[in-house]
Amino acid sequence: MKRREPDKVSFVGLGYVGLCTAAVFASKGLNMIGVDIDGEKISKLTKGEVPFYEPHLDRILKSAIKRRKIGFTTDIAKVAETGTTFITVGTPSRQDGSIDLTYVKKATEDIGSVISAGDSYHLVVVKSTVVPGTATGLVRPLLEASSGRACGDMLGLCSNPEFLAEGSAIKGTLHPDKVVIGANDEKSGNSLKRLYMSIYVRQKVPMIATNPTTAETIKYASNAFLATRVSTINTIANICQRLPGDDVEIVAKAIGLDPRIGPLYLKAGPGYGGSCFHKDLQALISLSRKLDYDPVLLSSVERVNENQAIEIVKLSRRLLSSLENRRVAVLGLAFKKDTDDIREAASLRVIEELVKNSASVSAYDPMAMKNASKVLSPKVEFATDAMSCLKGADCCILMTEWDEFRELKPREIKTAMRTPNIVDARRVLDQDDLQGFNYLAVGLGAP
Ligand code: UGA
Repeated sequence: MKRREPDKVSFVGLGYVGLCTAAVFASKGLNMIGVDIDGEKISKLTKGEVPFYEPHLDRILKSAIKRRKIGFTTDIAKVAETGTTFITVGTPSRQDGSIDLTYVKKATEDIGSVISAGDSYHLVVVKSTVVPGTATGLVRPLLEASSGRACGDMLGLCSNPEFLAEGSAIKGTLHPDKVVIGANDEKSGNSLKRLYMSIYVRQKVPMIATNPTTAETIKYASNAFLATRVSTINTIANICQRLPGDDVEIVAKAIGLDPRIGPLYLKAGPGYGGSCFHKDLQALISLSRKLDYDPVLLSSVERVNENQAIEIVKLSRRLLSSLENRRVAVLGLAFKKDTDDIREAASLRVIEELVKNSASVSAYDPMAMKNASKVLSPKVEFATDAMSCLKGADCCILMTEWDEFRELKPREIKTAMRTPNIVDARRVLDQDDLQGFNYLAVGLGAP
């Protein structure tokens, strides 16, 4: 084994969170090791190839590799060369909505056993999203047993949730609105605080110091709150849609000016998607029920979201009467713009509903075609660009707010489509430009 460098930091699990955070830490001058069990991923990363799309990640990763600030390995033993190890493995959902902690347990035990031979302080930081109580109730006993050390002088443990949003993860890590440090003990908390202060040297980043369970709850509370805002505005949108002259965009703008409400996460749409909101809400609901409390609000937030896809399809039915054998062009598959991620995307629920109603579906996304074809073929015909997707369509449903869709020329759309019916599920088009179209949009009442 190479000499141990106490200031060196390791990340175990190089998915979205692990890789983005490790790359930013390296760009800030820390010496990093990234560990993952996936050999193919490691060899790609070693060459500077990023396995998913995230703005700026490619550039900062290549630069960190060039400056030898970050290295990648499948060998977990390498964490013993570092002084701090972040656990950033996945926490997938189980069938019943609760989270599967298998990877967290395995990473904890592996880290514990490789540091057991050493005689220096090692700090373990749980960054994976885990339900409240996990660090204290599960990680700590496993870590102590596998390392043969007790948390305290020689072993540190913190919960340190992440709040990155896909598409702005690098910016979010460079300029976070807060860092949450849930420390098992004072020494652990101080060690992690020092590490973050070395990263955010000249920035005033609020640090929330608390215990591990509260830190874990902060993460779930944050996503529950954001998802609730989205389902609330979508509920208002569905009411506006049914009232002549009403418009959710103006409602959102006005209520957003109230400082108690604020303007963000008030964009009505086809429902939230992505790998986090649904998964985290389900995990919180499941935990809550285990604690003998039925969180009816959170269940409703999820139900509103599930139904929102049906509301969008209803709009297309209003234009076409029946969807049977009608050609519907779906523009946008990613769960939001600037990502190739289609996990839990509203487009999947909308397409499922369209297919159930015997529509024939063509689809296009600027970035998510590869991921989409894995789950949607052969249900959907994939087009190579927006205009060919619209060709011969009886209706277009605009699902993702990609900038390129804003630039589509109404005259060309009209020529390409069989009938100029548009359902704007993201409010990206300007109704005034769409003379001669039948245009329905989320949250927009009839003129
Ligand atoms: C979300 C949170 O924003 C992050 O803070 C958190 O760290 C992350 O989950 C996670 O737990 O890892 P993300 O899933 O990348 O990040 O996406 P968001 O930008 O929050 O959007 C989620 C969904 O809500 C998208 O489908 C988006 O289109 C939708 N949304 C968002 C709306 O429909 N309306 C809005 O006003 C805002």
